[in-house]
Amino acid sequence: MTDSRGPGFRSLESEYDDYRPEVEGSIPTWLSGTLLRNGPGRFEAGERRVDHWFDGLAMLRRYAFADGEVRYSNRFLRTEAYADAREGRLTGQFSTDTRGWRRVLDTVASFGLPEPTDNANVHVARIDGEYVALTEAPRRVAFDPETLATRGEFAFADEIPEHVTAAHLVDDPHRGELVGFTTEFGLSPSYHVYRLPEGSRRRERIASIEADGPAYVHDCSVTADHVVLVESPLELSVLRALNPLADGAIDMLRWRPERPTRVLVVDRDSGALVADPTVEAAFCFHHVNAFLENGAVVLDLVEFPDADIVDALSMSALDGVGFPDVPDARLVRYRIDPTGDAVERTRLYDGGMELPRVPRSRVGRRHRYAYGQATDREGANGLVKVDCDSGTAREWWERSVYVEEPIPVRRPGADAEDDGVVVATALDVDRERTALLVFDAATLDVEARVWLPHAEPFGFHGRYFRDV
Ligand SMILES: [Fe+2]
Repeated sequence: MTDSRGPGFRSLESEYDDYRPEVEGSIPTWLSGTLLRNGPGRFEAGERRVDHWFDGLAMLRRYAFADGEVRYSNRFLRTEAYADAREGRLTGQFSTDTRGWRRVLDTVASFGLPEPTDNANVHVARIDGEYVALTEAPRRVAFDPETLATRGEFAFADEIPEHVTAAHLVDDPHRGELVGFTTEFGLSPSYHVYRLPEGSRRRERIASIEADGPAYVHDCSVTADHVVLVESPLELSVLRALNPLADGAIDMLRWRPERPTRVLVVDRDSGALVADPTVEAAFCFHHVNAFLENGAVVLDLVEFPDADIVDALSMSALDGVGFPDVPDARLVRYRIDPTGDAVERTRLYDGGMELPRVPRSRVGRRHRYAYGQATDREGANGLVKVDCDSGTAREWWERSVYVEEPIPVRRPGADAEDDGVVVATALDVDRERTALLVFDAATLDVEARVWLPHAEPFGFHGRYFRDV
C-alpha cells in the first residue's frame, strides 16, 4: 500500500446485513459458529480526519459459519462518539488535533478524566450472556450478536477503580472465567487485576499491585496458577497532564528506556505478587500465552525494542509510509523462575509478528503453535505459524494481501493442537476488497476464500463463538 488513504484506512459508509457471499473452495461443515470482530470503520468527522488508527469509529463485523457457508454483516456501534462524528465533531479521541498521540488534553478525556469515550473499537467479549464491545477507556457497549444492533452501555456490577482499562480479557476455558485488569491513577497508582466468572458481571479483585509510572499496559496472560502483566517503561503521565500549573502541551506517554521492563507474576488464588523480575526495556502490546513448566512460568510475547510503534500508527505517519512499514515485533519467550526472580529470554521466530493467537483450549496451558500476522513482507502481511518447540515456522502470504488477526479454531474432538482451521480476514489492496480466508491450521493451505462486498478498514481483534 502506498498511503493511508488506501482501502485499509478509508472510511466505510455501507452496512451489510446477512450478506451471503460466494465461497471459493470449501469450508469444513464442522465449522459452525460466529467470528465477531471489532475495529475502526470510519476516520472522519465532517472535514476532519482522526490522527491515529486507534481513533476510528467502532465498526463490528460478523462472519457466521454454518453448513459450509458464511453470512456477513457489518454495523457501526451507535455510540455518543458516533453521533458526535455524524454531526462533525470528533470527541474523546486518543489523539489531538495535530500533535500526535503523545499530546495530552483530548487524550486525557479518552482515558476517563473527566469524560471517557464510548468509542469501543478494540475488542469484543461475552460477559454474563451479553456481547460487549471494549476499548481502553472505562466504557463498554453491549450489542446483539445476530443483528449487531447496539443495545446500550454495559456496566459492571462492582466498584473496581479504573481510569484506563484493558480491552483484552483473557478467556480461560479451564477455569471458566475472564481475567483482566484496570489502571488507577492517583498518588499510589495501581493495577487492579480481576477475574470475571462466567455468568457474572461483578469483577472479583485478585490483586492490586503498585504501579511504576504507571505504564501503558495493553494485555496480560494467565497460567493455570498465575496472572502475568508486563510493565514496560512507557509511562502514562496523567497526573502531570492534569496539573493546572503545568504549561502547554505535556507528554502523556513517555518512553523511559533507562528503566527496565518489569514482569509481574501474580498468584491467581492468593493475589500475592510471587515474582516481579526486571528485564531489559522493551514494549509489547500483545501476549501470546503463558503456562507452567517444571515450576517455571513460561511467557510468550510479541515484543518491540521500544515504543516507536505507538507513533508509527498515527495517521500522519501512515500517510507517509503506509501500514506495512511500521516497526516489527519479535516473538520471544521468557522463562521465569518465580522463586529466584531469574529470567531467561529466547527468540522463537526470526520474522516480524503481531496479533498473535493460540487455540482457546491452550490458553493458560502449554502451547506448541503460535499463529500471528507475518508483518515483514514487502507489500503484504502474511500469516505465520510458529512451532515453538522446534523453532521452525510455516508462512503464507500473497502480494497485496494484508492478513488481519488470525484466529485458530480446533475441530471438535480433535487431538492435535493444529487439527482445525485458522480464520482471518485479509484485505487485498490491489483489488480493494476484503476476503475471509479459511486456512488448514496444520498446513496453512487456503481451504476457502470468501470475498466480502467491500474493503473493510483494518480492524483490531475478534473472538470466535461456537454457539452464536
Ligand atoms: Fe490489542
